[in-house]
Amino acid sequence: MRDEINAIGLPGVVRRLDRQEMPLLREHLLRLDSESRHDRFNGFADESFIERYAAKCATDGTVVIAYLEGDEVLAAAELHPADGEISQLPEVAFSVDRKVRRRGLGSVLFRRLISEAKRRDYGSLRVTTGAQNEAMRALANKFGAHLTFRHGESTGEIDLRKPPASTVPGFDLADVLAVPEAWARVIARSQRDYWSWWLRMSRWQLPVPMIWQ
Ligand SMILES: CC(C)(COP(=O)(O)OP(=O)(O)OC[C@H]1O[C@@H](n2cnc3c(N)ncnc32)[C@H](O)[C@@H]1OP(=O)(O)O)[C@@H](O)C(=O)NCCC(=O)NCCS
Repeated sequence: MRDEINAIGLPGVVRRLDRQEMPLLREHLLRLDSESRHDRFNGFADESFIERYAAKCATDGTVVIAYLEGDEVLAAAELHPADGEISQLPEVAFSVDRKVRRRGLGSVLFRRLISEAKRRDYGSLRVTTGAQNEAMRALANKFGAHLTFRHGESTGEIDLRKPPASTVPGFDLADVLAVPEAWARVIARSQRDYWSWWLRMSRWQLPVPMIWQ
């Protein structure tokens, strides 16, 4: 994880926040500029709302993975367990301070959140964002969410039960799940290997078609 953060040239650390550290999440959310705060909550969220929100995160089993520089949270990824009423699926939400955006931090946090979700045996995750939120739509798409537009929101699910690509040599699970083209390459490589084996077994000497190279 430290390597990933170094690779994007940031000096801080990514780690899970303890329940007692939720005030750090609250401070981070309060520091967001008004547009970012609006995007994060897909609507109006004043100081007292954020106070209550962070306090709830400390008691309802929410997992928060944060990027910290010193004691300051500059980015957070939240994994909210399904409550069976409002949400039937665990929900994820992200907030990255404007000064550290577009450096891959949201992606680092997303990967880490997916690992946490898998550790909890979650089968899928829900992501909800404003219909105009291009940044979050791009981030969610990168991790396989197919967002659909409804009631002014974009909602999508991420299926965590995809085949364990990490068992395929030469492929990193997160990268493969993140990039559809990579997944296509895994399938193509498996097919190529199968037909190479079959041709060898049949003592045929036909070249493997270029499309599988
Ligand atoms: C959405 C958000 C978390 C993205 O964080 P980030 O650290 O900038 O994300 P990354 O740098 O990892 O970018 C992820 C992908 O999204 C794309 N992206 C990021 N911002 C984008 C934008 N404004 N427009 C289009 N694409 C964008 C990146 O190009 C990247 O794709 P790539 O890896 O293929 O190049 C951040 O913009 C944010 O905190 N916004 C305000 C809060 C919010 O909207 N939260 C979502 C509600 S849950």
